Amino acid sequence: MRQSRMNPHRPIVEACFKPASGMFREYCKSLYILKLIYNILNIIYQLFLLSTKTLISLINSVFPANGTTVAICVVYSKSAGSDRTGRCMAVPGGRRKGEFVMLSNAQEAGKKLRFGDALLQEGLISAEQLQQALELQKKSGKRLGAVVIEMHLVTEQETAQILSRQLKIPFIDLSNYLVDPIIARLLPEHLAKRHMLIPINKVGNRLTVAMFDPLNIIGIDDVSMMTGLVVKPVVATQSGIQKALQDAYGEGTITEKLIDDIEGMSRNAEGSPADIDLNQDLDENDAPIIRLCNLIISQAVQNQVSDIHIEPSEKELRIRYRQDGILQTAMVPPRKAAAAITSRIKIMASLNIAEKRLPQDGRIKIKVNQRNIDLRVSILPVIWGEKIVMRILDQSSLKVNLEDLGFEPVTLQRFKSGIQSPYGIVLVTGPTGSGKTTTLYSALSTLNTNERNIITAEDPVEYMLAGINQVQCRPEIGLDFPAALRSFLRQDPNIIMVGEIRDHETAEIAIKASMTGHLVLSTLHTNDAPGTIGRITNMGIEPFMVTTSVLVIQAQRLVRKICKECKYEIRPRAEQIAQFGITPEILRRLELPHLTEKNLLFYRGKGCDCCNKTGMKGRVGVYEVLTMTERLRDIILSGGSTDDIRRQAIDDGMLSLRESALRKALLGMTSIEEVIRVTMGEH
Ligand SMILES: Nc1ncnc2c1ncn2[C@@H]1O[C@H](COP(=O)(O)OP(=O)(O)OP(=O)(O)O)[C@@H](O)[C@H]1O
Ligand SMILES: [Mg+2]
Ligand SMILES: [Zn+2]
Repeated sequence: MRQSRMNPHRPIVEACFKPASGMFREYCKSLYILKLIYNILNIIYQLFLLSTKTLISLINSVFPANGTTVAICVVYSKSAGSDRTGRCMAVPGGRRKGEFVMLSNAQEAGKKLRFGDALLQEGLISAEQLQQALELQKKSGKRLGAVVIEMHLVTEQETAQILSRQLKIPFIDLSNYLVDPIIARLLPEHLAKRHMLIPINKVGNRLTVAMFDPLNIIGIDDVSMMTGLVVKPVVATQSGIQKALQDAYGEGTITEKLIDDIEGMSRNAEGSPADIDLNQDLDENDAPIIRLCNLIISQAVQNQVSDIHIEPSEKELRIRYRQDGILQTAMVPPRKAAAAITSRIKIMASLNIAEKRLPQDGRIKIKVNQRNIDLRVSILPVIWGEKIVMRILDQSSLKVNLEDLGFEPVTLQRFKSGIQSPYGIVLVTGPTGSGKTTTLYSALSTLNTNERNIITAEDPVEYMLAGINQVQCRPEIGLDFPAALRSFLRQDPNIIMVGEIRDHETAEIAIKASMTGHLVLSTLHTNDAPGTIGRITNMGIEPFMVTTSVLVIQAQRLVRKICKECKYEIRPRAEQIAQFGITPEILRRLELPHLTEKNLLFYRGKGCDCCNKTGMKGRVGVYEVLTMTERLRDIILSGGSTDDIRRQAIDDGMLSLRESALRKALLGMTSIEEVIRVTMGEH
């Protein structure tokens, strides 16, 4: 494997300093000059933080291979380094890591890490066998390790374990290890294959890489440069790595393999799932199901998916991920795995596995790559079994900075002036999954200071916010939103957050609370800000109650962002500009003084590896914020329509959802197609 990158005409260990030309020989006889060259190279190495590969090529250009040969080491552990071909060798005298050493003495450099000696010491082969192997090695040019395996003197496993002991690097048996394809694919396949290695785990900025040759410093360098992570090598067998590579990059992915395992399960998974007993040791037939469930979750977390859908149909089981707001099929396990997967998820969420006729809600707390992940689990009986939806709540990815959500500067100003009032009501609206909860949590964290008593009624509590009193509602025991709100008023709050207003009773108490000196924040499932007024009055709230209590109503959507790696500009045609209603007046309202109808551009993503060929990556919010003004009050009190309210709000300076999205398109954050997709039907 590694031979391919080495020049076969160049000696592998260049032990001594043998300058060819007579003049040069005279110079180099002096150790002083040698030391000088060494120091200069060392300074270059340290100063410019060169990669080992660059350093080695630098050395090779300073000392051309023909004629002048020098033993040179780049040290990467206490006692090991690599020579100019990148090959590992022993470095005497306990050096510092990253140091560049030039060995002038043949004896010093000749002390290679001897794999053969280790084989002898461990009594695995005789001196005679070693001799034979060394001869064969000379002929074939292969590694000694490979030769002794071919001669059936030792197994692959034994060789790897010897290497592990010798180098004090852990050994990993990949045949018992489930390599997460997402982690593996951090590296392009050709690189992994070239160096015979595979990334197997990532914690923070450390990437554990299973390597056939853990001393292949060029491989380590390539991986760390490619991923930007610190590489921690572990030893594995070549066949183990090959199999893992096949799983991760090949046709039959690990998921398909697991699914095959499930197909082959002897136990009939369609039988009663209630027979999985948590207290019993899992029998080996359950292992594929557990591994599959873990994989479904860890893959989703890795891909920054917001929801996992597991849905049975007549013939198959479909697993879909919602990523950046769009559902995509992730895998299709066999139908007969459905019952077992459902049971496993129920066990994880501490739900009743015997209950299959009623909906259930639960929560799973797990650790994925050292990150604490919460899953909000909802199970709904459907005609073909039970449909599971899991919302991924990743505390570490929660955005709680209002500035980071994507508000336009003016809009943010308006929203902030609402939440900074001492009393009144602020409503955040939008359809499911439009980011309402995130906005509310961000608003609360801005307001969360020592002088304020903040209390929330939520169903469910999604994220824990330090310093805020969060109450989990339990309608089944009578603790619904109205009940929670009533008791809050006796808790001397400054700010109250109610998860959602969906009925007259909640609306009435929330509005009353906001009129008696409290700031109330809540959400409503409506499409836009002006339409929210009608929704509240339809719940039976008097218009004058609305006009006196409401401070601001915000509506929002999430638009997908263009992938930064493959973004390109498009010069729009005049009719397109007209079609989107882009006029000088609009450009002025959007506060984009540098843009005119002549120079504006649209943007799009070509699609690359970074964005899964979609051209889009990540999301950002678009917002409209209606502020209650005197004139708006008059219109509402005189029974004006939603259209009247909207016109007035826009007159009062509100940017609409469409305008907010358009502004992001003109700034190159999103595409014009996305603006249309997300704000279809909006004004
Ligand atoms: N401004 C934002 N930019 C990018 N992503 C966001 C933004 N706001 C929310 N998200 C992400 O969108 C997803 C849905 O957000 P959130 O739970 O806040 O929506 P919601 O409207 O409260 O949904 P539901 O109606 O289901 O309660 C989450 O994964 C969240 O991290
Ligand atoms: Mg929510
Ligand atoms: Zn891209």
